[in-house]
Order: sequence, then C-alpha cells, then structure tokens
Amino acid sequence: MNRLVINADLGNQRISRHIYGHFAEHLGRCIYGGLWVGEDSLIPNLRGLRQDVVDALRAIRVPNLRWPGGCFADEYHWMDGIGARAQRPAMLNTHWGGVVETNHFGTHEYMDLCAQLDCEPYICANLGSGTVREMQQWVEYLTAPAGPMADLRRQHGRAEPWTVRMWGVGNENWGCGGSMRPEYYADEYRRYATYCRNLGDNVLYRIACGPSGADYRWTRVLMREAAGRMQALAPHYYCGSGSSSRSATDFAEEDWFYQLQRALLMDELIRRHGAIMDQYDPDRRVGMVIDEWGTWHAVEPGTHPGFLYQQNSLRDALVAGATLNIFNQHCDRVQGANIAQTVNVLQAMVLTEEDSDRILLTPTYHAFEMFKEHQDAMLVETTLDSEDYAFGDACIPAINASASRNDAAQLLLTVCNMDPNGERQLRCEVRGMTVNRLTGRVLTAAEMTAHNTFDDPHSVRPEAYIVPEIHHGTVKLMLPPRSVLAIKAE
Ligand code: AHR
Repeated sequence: MNRLVINADLGNQRISRHIYGHFAEHLGRCIYGGLWVGEDSLIPNLRGLRQDVVDALRAIRVPNLRWPGGCFADEYHWMDGIGARAQRPAMLNTHWGGVVETNHFGTHEYMDLCAQLDCEPYICANLGSGTVREMQQWVEYLTAPAGPMADLRRQHGRAEPWTVRMWGVGNENWGCGGSMRPEYYADEYRRYATYCRNLGDNVLYRIACGPSGADYRWTRVLMREAAGRMQALAPHYYCGSGSSSRSATDFAEEDWFYQLQRALLMDELIRRHGAIMDQYDPDRRVGMVIDEWGTWHAVEPGTHPGFLYQQNSLRDALVAGATLNIFNQHCDRVQGANIAQTVNVLQAMVLTEEDSDRILLTPTYHAFEMFKEHQDAMLVETTLDSEDYAFGDACIPAINASASRNDAAQLLLTVCNMDPNGERQLRCEVRGMTVNRLTGRVLTAAEMTAHNTFDDPHSVRPEAYIVPEIHHGTVKLMLPPRSVLAIKAE
C-alpha cells in the first residue's frame, strides 16, 4: 500500500523560490530567436525581447535567470556587450557551434529581460579566460553608485546602480571553464572572489563552481579551502537520456525507466555532497545551488548538433516533478537550482519555431507551473511509504511527493506517479490541519512519449483532477499512470 502522512503543522524550513530558477546561455537559439528578436522584428517585442516568451515565463514566476553561460560564460567578455549595438565587436562562440556572436544581447538587454520577467539576475562571470580586473569591473559597472564604471554605465543610459546579488565565479572550471584541478580552482576562486565586492547597498551572494555529478573530491577540496569565502557551491548534474535510444520522443519503457532512475539519483547526490559540506559548515550557512540540471537528449533531427535543441515529452515532466520534489525535501541545504535551459535548449520551458512566430509550452513548463506555489512556502513534514515500480530486475519508488504551506496557510501537495503502466492508489493522511476544500490538477497523457508540437501545442497540459472526499483527515488519491499531480488543501 502507498501511504503518505502529511504533518501540516510541522516543519520549519522555507523552500527558497530560487530552487525554481532558470538558465539562459548564448547557445543555439536560446537567446537569439528564443528570448531576443531585436527591436525591428515582426515578432511582437518590447525593446527587442519577444513578448510571447516573456509572458509565458512570467506565468511560472521565474525567480532568477542565470546568464550568460554555461561554458559560454568563461569566454565572454562583458565589455563587448555594452554600448551602441552596431559598434559592438563580434566574437566566435567556440563552445556552441562555432557561430558568430554579435554581442547584441549584452548586460543592458539582460537586465531589461530580468526586469520584464520580474526576476533576480544571476550573472556567471568569466574566471576561465578573463581577468580579475574584468570581473571586478563588471560588478562595479552593475552595482557601484559612483566611480569610473558607474560613469560608464551612466554614459550607456543607466544612472542608478542595479541590484545584482547572485554572482557565479566561473562555470564548470573542472572542464570547459579551464580544466582546473580543485586545488587550483579553489585558489583562483579565493583570488577572484576577493575582488567581487559589496558596493553601495548591494550585498553579493558569491557562488563557487561545484562538482560534476558525483565528484565528491571536488566538494571536499572547495569546502576545505574556500567555504569561508563563498555563499554557495554549485554542483551540476544532468540525468542524460534513455538507455538504448537518446531520442527525446521516440523511446520505449526501458528508456523511460532508465531516465527516471537517473533523475532520482539527485537525492543521493544532495545527501552525499551535503554530508561533506556539513563537515566544514555544520551550520549550513553555505548553500547548495544546483545551477545546471535536467535531461540531455539527442538534438532534433536536422538541427545543428551544437545547438542542443531537443523536444520534451511527458517523461521530461516526470523528471522535473521528481527533481523539484527532491529539492523541496532538501531545502535546508538547497538554496537554489537552475534547470537547463529556458528556451530552445536542452530541457526547455518554451520552444520557438525557427523563422516563425509560433511557440509551444513543453510538459516541463507545465510541471514548473503546477509547482510554482511551493516558492517561498514552508516545507511540511511528510512520510511516504511507496510501492516499487519495477522494470526488469531493477526498481525505483513508484511515487514521490513534497508538501508546503504558504503564508495564507494553504497546503500544496505535489505527487508524481513514475509508473507508466498502472494507476496507483495513495492513502493520504493530513494531520495538524482542518481541510475544508481540496482541489487538484493532473498532468498526464495516453502515451509516455506524448509531447507538444507547433501544430498541436496543447496535447500535454494540466487538466482538472477531481479529488475524492476527505474523511477524518484521510483521502485516497488515485494517481493515473505516468502523472504529475498538484493538490491544494484549504
Ligand atoms: O547547459 C549546456 C552546457 O552544459 C553548459 O554550457 C555547461 O556548463 C554544461 O556542460
């Protein structure tokens, strides 16, 4: 039997909204064509930013947007991206397709995007191929009330300093960000972070490059050498694709199972990296910000292999739902996370059709929308006994869940049924709260490969879910196969 006990009056950890963060890199059609079309485009835009995409993203309450990379960040020189667009020097985007980067989308365009999305900026600065001076000046350009960088900013049309709290000091410096050993990066981090200063009212939240997946040595060295100088450490974990097929939409149960099993590893990674962090930071001052995560399938046939344009099915929504449940459950350490990436790249929220004004919202988008009220709510204590979903001689828990209560004392329960074949009954016992009303929504489809297309953009989207009557605090939920549910109790 599957049983979930929800102690609605217990729990003292807040789920940071930044767990629901996003990531936009100069990669493929994420920025150009995805978020930015330019002021002269026929696609409706506000100061060059396409309004259909901005509106869609506002609806899921994007709390922060990491930019400009990724690998691109460690070859980006921010001064090339300010001033009159026609005069900005171009560069080669050597990581992503070897295409010419015009620098038309730079610091001011990004800050305008954050303002239009009503989200916090999160800038990842260049440690791999930049200089300390360059990083220091970027912080000054954005946040200093006075001085030469503030004057330059004023010349480019912005008098007041912005607030930019979140700064990444390099990206994947064990790989594309300079192939460094952890000891070397720790020293470089200390040097660069020293010159990223709090200016005026701006208080920095410095984020150090974290490990790749299960590289526990990286975490140990960084925490040992630099924990006192960072506010967060940023592991990256991609859960790959299927076991036999890497297609995003053409796969069998073997691939479904493999993908979800790999997604659930996130729990172990957080526990084990967290245990190392606890040794050096027992008060859990240093946050874990998993600033790249998600699925990574083969690119869509006929598209540029370096652009990482992939479709997104119900399977991706289950990966998103299960991962967000894991993050919520670890919100005492996980202070942020950024799914990769926002538009047209990897596990995107939105896909835009090339040379057209059509867009679609992916199943992953809908999962984020259904979970959005967990943002800044209090995590509620839950105990879950789940049956297994078995495939071959392996198994994973069929069900995962998390629950939170917002400031209006409403409870949000999010549940995933990972089993693609059978519905599962979940007996929920709600304690510490009188429930007067239960409403729900469910995201599922007839096929596990179901996805949205530009011709059929609403094939996978949430539907109303009729919640059975609650008796003496107990309700028996029937979870459809392969589903994500959001249940609200008031
Ligand atoms: O998200 C795509 C790439 O994956 C990023 O640029 C890099 O940081 C990671 O390897």
